[in-house]
Amino acid sequence: MDDSNFTMSIPRKTCEIVQGEEQFIITCDDGREVQMRAHDYNEIYKIPGLYEHLFYENYKCNSPAVVCSELVNTVEGSNQKISNLKVLDVGAGNGMVGEELVSAGVETVIGIDIIEEAAMATERDRPGIYADYFVEDLTRLPSGVEKRITDESLNCMTLVAALGFGDIPPHAFAEAYNLINESGWIAFNIKDEFYSEKDQTGFSKLIQNMTASGVWDIKSKKHYVHRLCQDGTPLEYYAIVGKKQEDIPNSMV
Ligand SMILES: C[S@@+](CC[C@H](N)C(=O)[O-])C[C@H]1O[C@@H](n2cnc3c(N)ncnc32)[C@H](O)[C@@H]1O
Repeated sequence: MDDSNFTMSIPRKTCEIVQGEEQFIITCDDGREVQMRAHDYNEIYKIPGLYEHLFYENYKCNSPAVVCSELVNTVEGSNQKISNLKVLDVGAGNGMVGEELVSAGVETVIGIDIIEEAAMATERDRPGIYADYFVEDLTRLPSGVEKRITDESLNCMTLVAALGFGDIPPHAFAEAYNLINESGWIAFNIKDEFYSEKDQTGFSKLIQNMTASGVWDIKSKKHYVHRLCQDGTPLEYYAIVGKKQEDIPNSMV
């Protein structure tokens, strides 16, 4: 980025590069050097433009656009209006998904993320995108916040680049899902490994059980490259859009 106040360098590879563990060094304008890993979101969000530079320019991530366009195509394909969506954006980060939704015509987006730095970066970089932004752990949502969210009668949930890898576990996904009205839209992406028979995270089993028991209907599924790993390996994901039919029961997670 031309106007950035940092430079980024990649240390020499000394071991196998694992998704999320990619290391890099940021040199700030004042000469300070900070070593970070790709999933150190709290540190990354503190530096304006670093998240976008790292994930979108360097690792060629395009997931907010891919997931949101799958959602828009599916909703419009069922003759519903995008402007009628009231969205809960889960793991909202610094607001890139919210920005996509608003530019697609969504009028109400509420964000939730577990770290304060995400809310602060959203306020700094994309003010006004979210009608409300909660800093909460979805696995321990205070009842007052849960009521404020359900009172909004939300009919859509988005969740991009936030499942697995120590981020949002299956039971937190279920918590968020259950905040959405019945017949709401659900759009998210997931690493293809977590949606395969080899999966150990619990997501594959949860999604299969949700489908088999009619908790939701999958309306579209797209296999695509979410981003490149630091060594250039493409990281393949699914973008999935479904229609909620009923809550996920406790027994399923
Ligand atoms: C890779 S970022 C994705 C941000 C945004 N969705 C995007 O696509 O640019 C993952 C986000 O999930 C958030 N997160 C991780 N665990 C969470 C949890 N249990 N509840 C809510 N957010 C969580 C992280 O703080 C981080 O901001």
